[in-house]
Amino acid sequence: MRLIDELRAEHTLIDRALGSLRTWVEVGGDAADGERFWKFFRRYAGDFHHAREEDSLFVALHAEAELPLDRGPMAVLKADHERLGALLDQLHPLLKDAQRGEQMTALAVEYSRGLWLHIDAENSVMLPESEQRLRRLNIHELPSRPPTGEEQAALWDGQALVERYAELPDREVMRGDGCIMCPAYGNTCRGLEREWWNESEWSEHGDRFSGD
Ligand SMILES: [Fe+2]
Ligand SMILES: [Fe+2]
Repeated sequence: MRLIDELRAEHTLIDRALGSLRTWVEVGGDAADGERFWKFFRRYAGDFHHAREEDSLFVALHAEAELPLDRGPMAVLKADHERLGALLDQLHPLLKDAQRGEQMTALAVEYSRGLWLHIDAENSVMLPESEQRLRRLNIHELPSRPPTGEEQAALWDGQALVERYAELPDREVMRGDGCIMCPAYGNTCRGLEREWWNESEWSEHGDRFSGD
């Protein structure tokens, strides 16, 4: 499905840009690039990427596949978008004035780790599951849209920034695939099967979970 392919490709750039942001924050770089990083994450990752997940993919999963928006994976991912957007708002004045220091580092670390884990959950669970479920309903395409002028400019900024700043490796973040790696698992989400499976899925595959 084109929308899902687009979202995956966007994840690759956003993922790299987070590593570049960490380099700019913790190692250094051109002061003017702080605002460019902000624009990329606000206009491209937020207004363009997260918005199409919510406005197209989540809407279809709720309306067509009857999956809940108020709990489970979609509620978790939507809450992530809001939480990460608020962190970015806090980072903005510091990035704009290139105010490197403890506060900027702490916010950039929290933002990058949060968004990396969010991308892992989407790539390994949300996107493949969505595509499969929609295909079963005979839905092979979903609405998408091209970026606005501002979003496109933010994309070009992001592409330039990842070339300019090599990614800073973060050895403390535990990244990986599947619900088990998601910070929400067992906390605000009981995992894909318990949140999304219907009666017939449980009778078909539920023996995998017998004993718990
Ligand atoms: Fe997302
Ligand atoms: Fe995403």
